Amino acid sequence: MSGDKKQAKKVISSGNAELDGRMGGGLPRGTLGLIEGNSGSGKSVLSQQIMWGALQDGYTVSLFSSENSVKSLVPQMSSIDLDIMEFLLLGKFRVYPVEFSHLGDNAVTELIQAMKRENEYSRDLIVVDSLTSAIIHTTHEQSILNFFEEAKRLCAQGVTILVTLHNQAVASDIVGSIRSMCDAHINLKAEQDGQKLVKILEVAKIRGAASVTGDIVGFDVEPGWGMRVIPISKARG
Ligand SMILES: Nc1ncnc2c1ncn2[C@@H]1O[C@H](COP(=O)(O)OP(=O)(O)O)[C@@H](O)[C@H]1O
Ligand SMILES: [Mg+2]
Repeated sequence: MSGDKKQAKKVISSGNAELDGRMGGGLPRGTLGLIEGNSGSGKSVLSQQIMWGALQDGYTVSLFSSENSVKSLVPQMSSIDLDIMEFLLLGKFRVYPVEFSHLGDNAVTELIQAMKRENEYSRDLIVVDSLTSAIIHTTHEQSILNFFEEAKRLCAQGVTILVTLHNQAVASDIVGSIRSMCDAHINLKAEQDGQKLVKILEVAKIRGAASVTGDIVGFDVEPGWGMRVIPISKARG
């Protein structure tokens, strides 16, 4: 573990008190976490929020992104009030753009190898956003499960790993196995409610959380502000 500040804290938090409260106080270190949801449900925004919270607490973070380059991530995070420039310059935050489509079955194995190498630099949090494009090119379901088994082994060494996944990309029995292998599972949904698109965050489980989880909340992504938790009746209404 590197650095400064409030590292006595044993959890990775989002830095957003309301959100942390809903997540049982934050992700215990060493958690293997799954953020599941369809397109536009908030997987990237939630993982950006958690990465930023970790950086604020002095943790080191590495992101494997199939969605953003460093160049596109900086303005995206800045648009929701998450300034990462300083952390990038200090090497506390590393971003690896990844392109899986040409790797076929090797995508998940190459990814876990890269994550292991990254862990050798004792990173505190490793995020994969998203695993979907790696998985859709995988024909052997066992290699997907191997990925999670290996990730779990890394977590046992102390690193926290967060993976986002578009659930429809994988057969439902595989999704079930993945969910049960993960220590934390957050489910995001964007539901059409009349005219309105409502975003829902469900904390399905967080093993070892300081407080009770299992909560369902609505949220909005506000430009210049980020994720704002809103009461569910209002969110649906
Ligand atoms: N800066 C922003 N201002 C307003 N809305 C945003 C901003 N960034 C992302 N969003 C919205 O947040 C929602 C979730 O986006 P995202 O996290 O990228 O979804 P996913 O990764 O699940 O596909 C989308 O509706 C997106 O338009
Ligand atoms: Mg995304």
